[in-house]
Amino acid sequence: MQDLLALRDLSSAKVTHLLDLAQTIKQDPGAWQNHLQGKSIALLFEKPSLRTRASFAAGIHRLGGHSIYLDAANLMGSREPAADVGANLALWHDAIVARVFSQATLDELAQASDKPVINALSDICHPCQAMADLLTLTEQLGDLSKVTLTYLGDGNNVCQGLMSGAALVGMTFQIVTPKGYEPDAEALAHAQSVATTNGGSVTLHHDFNDLQRTDAIYTDTWFSMGQERDSNAVMHDFAPFQVNMDLMQQLGASYFMHCLPAYRGREVTAEVIDGPQSLVLHQAENRLHAQNAILVELLTGAQA
Ligand code: CP
Ligand code: NVA
Repeated sequence: MQDLLALRDLSSAKVTHLLDLAQTIKQDPGAWQNHLQGKSIALLFEKPSLRTRASFAAGIHRLGGHSIYLDAANLMGSREPAADVGANLALWHDAIVARVFSQATLDELAQASDKPVINALSDICHPCQAMADLLTLTEQLGDLSKVTLTYLGDGNNVCQGLMSGAALVGMTFQIVTPKGYEPDAEALAHAQSVATTNGGSVTLHHDFNDLQRTDAIYTDTWFSMGQERDSNAVMHDFAPFQVNMDLMQQLGASYFMHCLPAYRGREVTAEVIDGPQSLVLHQAENRLHAQNAILVELLTGAQA
């Protein structure tokens, strides 16, 4: 494993290993406090972040490493090409964590840098989020191959990251979107093929009545950062896709998930996201543990 640009680049065994490692580190953090000693990691963010930035900074510190934060003003395009940024950062740092508008920027960074590059959210996926979500589902429900997860809403970066992860662990993953907001067709077909290999399934729907019962419902904002969409059209198209108690009951869902930030009263009601079935803070907490497993694997190759 050289980089983490997208989960679809990983094997099923690698994802399982990273989830095991995340649980091991979470259970005994003291045993891992020197694993990144003397290492420095650059956090590059072209877009805003609370969870990703703060959890990487805290997680790196807990592993004995050091991080610096670089915002958009210093970065690709506005000041110098991504390739120059990557080549320079690799001179002083042991890894680059980057949140970017375009996946192509990650590819350029990774090509120019001989140090690992980790995707902290791009236009097409959010692998660190998906790993934290799989960790959360493992903690709550155990064997992921027996879990049904339903992603409802926009077929965006979060949906696509989760779709890849779900396929690799053999989950039953149902996606339901308004027409015109599906995940990328090639990414969907790839995930469907990977899911079949692993004994799971990935299905795309537009009608709630086509869905089977689910363990958890996952949704995300209808307006992702960097998207230019007609807000009236989006509000109209997504209105039936709000997650509320009626929908939770209709689908038999025990749990609600959201990557955050969330917009109460839009994609989810306050009753659901702030209620006992909500896993959102578990997901947010697990960002740190999942990312620390990724960092340990990339920087030290340690075994769980
Ligand atoms: N879920 C997530 O990535 O949150 P931030 O945008 O706050 O980092
Ligand atoms: N889909 C959202 C996720 C934020 C963590 C976005 O890209 O803005």
